[in-house]
Amino acid sequence: MRLPEITRSMLQNSLVLGLFAVLTVGLVAITQQATASRILAAERSAKNQTLSQLLPAGSFDNVLQDSPIPLAADPLLGTHGTKAAYLASLNGQAQAVILQVTAPDGYSGAIHLLVAINAQGRLIGVRVLKHKETPGLGDKIELAKSAWIRGFDGKSLSDPDASGWAVKKDLGQFDQFSGATITPRAVVKAVHQALQYFAAHQRELLTPSVMEQHNG
Ligand SMILES: Cc1cc2nc3c(=O)[nH]c(=O)nc-3n(C[C@H](O)[C@H](O)[C@H](O)COP(=O)(O)O)c2cc1C
Repeated sequence: MRLPEITRSMLQNSLVLGLFAVLTVGLVAITQQATASRILAAERSAKNQTLSQLLPAGSFDNVLQDSPIPLAADPLLGTHGTKAAYLASLNGQAQAVILQVTAPDGYSGAIHLLVAINAQGRLIGVRVLKHKETPGLGDKIELAKSAWIRGFDGKSLSDPDASGWAVKKDLGQFDQFSGATITPRAVVKAVHQALQYFAAHQRELLTPSVMEQHNG
């Protein structure tokens, strides 16, 4: 049976359009996949770089990434799944632990941090790995933008005491930024909670074999 000219033309056009749509969707999916894996690789590389810069050179002699300690999700860490911590040791002696911590309550969502704590429970340093805070306001938590994050160096659960673990606007010890209190408030709370986590799990963190026995 021969189709009328107009029907044939419509069919042809639909076919071309359909093919075009399939091709476009495929192309978008491939681009998205490639971009996602490139973002993941960039994030991993940023984390490795930050990990290696957080502890003073010479204070440890192991490769931090080689022995991650899997930590179960915990509200004090702000984590929802297992996240690795990294133990730094020198001549086989535990020196420090680096925790991966999430502050869930930034101005624009979660702020991901690395928190390095020495064996005595003092902060060696804190760095921001990833955030979506506003440029010029909340992004001063990045070391590249301001030295604010260095304000945690040397602090511990008892120095300052619990009431000091807040921004100055909330009568604590830590500066807020002008016009931006929400971001630093979220980071101060997350770092304080990371110290509480360390205090509660110090033994397992500094001697991971204890944790293996627990898990095993
Ligand atoms: C467009 C826009 C972006 C903002 N970004 C941030 C931000 O990234 N971090 C932040 O703490 N506050 C940010 N603020 C300001 C907050 O809304 C809030 O006013 C400020 O943090 C002070 O909070 P406080 O009233 O609890 O002290 C932003 C405000 C606007 C209008």
